[in-house]
Amino acid sequence: MLHRWEIWFIIIQVVAFQLRAGASIYDEFKVNWCRQRKWRLDWQSLQKPCQNLNYRRNNGQLYKTLKTSPEQSEIFGVQIRPAGEYSRFFVQSRTQRAQKKTFGGDSWRVRLEGPSYIAGTVFDHNNGVYEVLFLIMEPGIYKINMILDYTLCDGLINPPMDWFKNAHCSGHLKNVHLSKNLFSEMTGYINEPLLCAKRRTLTIPWQRLSEMEIQNNMREADNECDIQCNLMWDGFGRWVNGYKWKPYMNFTRADYTSLRNQHKHYYHAVGRGVFWVYGDSLSYYFYESIVSPMRRLCLTVFKECNNTYNWIYPKTLYELTETCGEVNLHVPRVLKYFRQVLARPDMDTDSALLLNAGAHYIKTTNFQGYKEVITALISEIKKMYKGQAIWKSTTAIHSQTADIMGAFRRFMTNHRIQLYNAFANSAMCASGISVLDVYPISTSYPPGTKDGVHYNSEAFNPVIELLERYFSS
Ligand SMILES: *[C@@H]1O[C@H](CO)[C@@H](O)[C@H](O)[C@H]1NC(C)=O
Ligand SMILES: *[C@@H]1O[C@H](CO)[C@@H](O)[C@H](O)[C@H]1NC(C)=O
Repeated sequence: MLHRWEIWFIIIQVVAFQLRAGASIYDEFKVNWCRQRKWRLDWQSLQKPCQNLNYRRNNGQLYKTLKTSPEQSEIFGVQIRPAGEYSRFFVQSRTQRAQKKTFGGDSWRVRLEGPSYIAGTVFDHNNGVYEVLFLIMEPGIYKINMILDYTLCDGLINPPMDWFKNAHCSGHLKNVHLSKNLFSEMTGYINEPLLCAKRRTLTIPWQRLSEMEIQNNMREADNECDIQCNLMWDGFGRWVNGYKWKPYMNFTRADYTSLRNQHKHYYHAVGRGVFWVYGDSLSYYFYESIVSPMRRLCLTVFKECNNTYNWIYPKTLYELTETCGEVNLHVPRVLKYFRQVLARPDMDTDSALLLNAGAHYIKTTNFQGYKEVITALISEIKKMYKGQAIWKSTTAIHSQTADIMGAFRRFMTNHRIQLYNAFANSAMCASGISVLDVYPISTSYPPGTKDGVHYNSEAFNPVIELLERYFSS
């Protein structure tokens, strides 16, 4: 027989336990939410496992002994949480002879495929272990599609000095100008699945928190991550049936208004100004998708849209093969063309500049050169531009054919995209320029790229809608 005070005691214990459990669910959620968002800025951590690695594929025997085997590597430490919370697993990389590796430098691509499609974020712990982190919102059974692209830092090496010229001047877009020797050394594209992942699935249980609690966790975590950045949207989410993009955070009209209020120092008035898209073919395709057919963004939100199509310099120059004499990136020249746009009279306070500089830099220039370009572009924007500049990151690449990865696109690896993005994102954030990170939406897009680099325009429909909402609220 229980006394009344004992019953109260039990009730209090139960309530306290639930409060503690709620708090620890939130704490764990917050840690992982913030890790994923710091990852997209943390170029130092991305680079670290490869900074002092001296054995590369041209070391012949050593390379063969030390490279990671996707057949032998194995999954361990699987931590499954209900929908609406972060799950993760780890991969112990092993060599062909099944020896445990104790250092990092591999390039993995991970997709979780089930009731929704999501790319996992891969953390290289630089001890042979890789962690795959992901937030699933739709419970159910998921397949793990985990691909090893490169090993031993092959996915992160810089192109040789003459690559710039060769990749831009070879008329047939094949590496006809590259010596056989260079060609064979520079491949190394593996593109093979982690075997043990093919044999297993993950079952994500139904959520234990309400939709409301999950949304609150996201917003609260987001405020507590302590990341200084003018993000135009969170960028993370998942694709659900029928290829519909669902962002994690349930942004409402009020959220856009408050975001706009935070960016009050920009003056765009609805219906005025030019929306200028500046970048390479990825940006050019994006421009095409807002002007044909003409979208609201270019009709009523802005007065008009326009664009500049660059590789490194404006694209038209290459048709004249004008740049083939150059063997490397020339930063002042990049700036000269950039200024021509910024100095236009219609690039006024009502205008906006959607800017990217990515694919061709990743493909043909080294990381040091890229850092200089980004830093210089930022300083030009600060100096000259009166409208709102928005940095758009470079989209992910999915599987490539091996002959492309052994040719003119050899250095356009997903790993290098992540590194270049992280540097540019963090530099833009630090300087207060708005950031639109399209990497997560592209890396999770179920059909992948259509030609190795470009996407169907439907993939970025949510981005166009976001811009329309942002600039009209
Ligand atoms: C998201 O917000 C909209 C509008 O406020 C609401 O109708 C919808 O139910 C919300 N969805 C979730 C999953 O919270
Ligand atoms: C874009 O700018 C170019 C160069 O000034 C101009 O010739 C062209 O007419 C503009 N296009 C549109 C659609 O406004």
